[in-house]
Amino acid sequence: MKGLILSGGKGTRLYPLTYTRAKQLIPVANEPVLFRVIRAIRDAGISEIGIVVGDTAPEIMEAVNGGERWGVNITFIHQSAPAGLAHAVKESLGFLGDDRFVMFLGDNVIQGGISPLIRQFADSQWNSQIVLTAVSDPRQYGVAELNADGSIKRLVEKPKEPPSNLALVGIYMFDRHIREAVHAIKPSFRNELEITDAIQWLIDQGYVVNPYIHKGWWIDTGKPGDMLNANDHVLEEVSPRIEGAVDAASQLDSRVTVGKGAVIENSVIRGPAIIGEETVVRDSYIGPFTSIYHHCLIEKSEVEHSIILEHSRVTDVPYRIADSIIGRNATVTRSEVKPKAVKMNLGDYSQVGIL
Ligand code: DAU
Repeated sequence: MKGLILSGGKGTRLYPLTYTRAKQLIPVANEPVLFRVIRAIRDAGISEIGIVVGDTAPEIMEAVNGGERWGVNITFIHQSAPAGLAHAVKESLGFLGDDRFVMFLGDNVIQGGISPLIRQFADSQWNSQIVLTAVSDPRQYGVAELNADGSIKRLVEKPKEPPSNLALVGIYMFDRHIREAVHAIKPSFRNELEITDAIQWLIDQGYVVNPYIHKGWWIDTGKPGDMLNANDHVLEEVSPRIEGAVDAASQLDSRVTVGKGAVIENSVIRGPAIIGEETVVRDSYIGPFTSIYHHCLIEKSEVEHSIILEHSRVTDVPYRIADSIIGRNATVTRSEVKPKAVKMNLGDYSQVGIL
């Protein structure tokens, strides 16, 4: 089997972070979501992986490199326009050939691995397998309606009136018949070639599409709140290790990871939390569910339930920072310059909540 990861698209809902960065490269628990997806496919025994890229191709190609770090072969597939998930498959047919494959959306984070799912599909005669899970607001996803015997009755993309609460998770398995399907369907109401419509086409032609119900957590990291939510879940899975330097005046609980070259001085860190490589935390408090990426400085400040990206500095901040995502190379600090005021230099679509 082959793997296909979709990493094109626009990421507009994650502005301002995604003005300057591919959404699939935003880290949760200090690992880009896309890297986690590559690992999941590799761990399922697949070594030929195609990654569909769009406008953010240079950044993704540089970050992933050839895939040696995971021991897999990566082929980059340039999608001519972000015209839908089925369009991405259509433009990947050369790479896929007639092989069975798993398609994984590069912005999805799911509990556990996908090995059992892949094995089940590889051993079966099914033409496709999809993954469904119960969600509270199905309107933002593809939604499945099942028959009484558990088979799929119909699939509908982002319905205003959802026929069930079963959303399509961004993991799909196909055989060569998807080739016919992506050629047969027409663009949807949002002018995209929808994978949901392609799967419906398979069902309508009598091909076997097996629904697998996922019971653990799953997050489509579309919005900033979703990133924090994914970070919470993944931090709970991390096996803690201390590879940096922690001084005697600091207190770390047992669920804290400290990366290589990081320095913790006179600080309290309550886990689950992760401090990235070469980051310095000095005279500070880091609360639960916080990920601080590499080469940051946190000094005389308090941060909890937040994600801070690389090369950022939080110093002398008089209030605790919580529920926040801070981008790369950002500075948050106390200013002595008069007038005494909150002074901001924010990117477009930034959001700030003042005390
Ligand atoms: O996350 C699950 C949902 O993903 C499913 O429930 C929906 O049925 C499915 O259509 C999809 O919906 P989204 O609207 O969330 O898809 P999004 O546009 O966010 O794209 C998902 C990933 O695919 C993302 O990593 C970007 C990539 N992509 C997207 C498009 C439209 C491409 O590589 N090419 C594209 O043309």
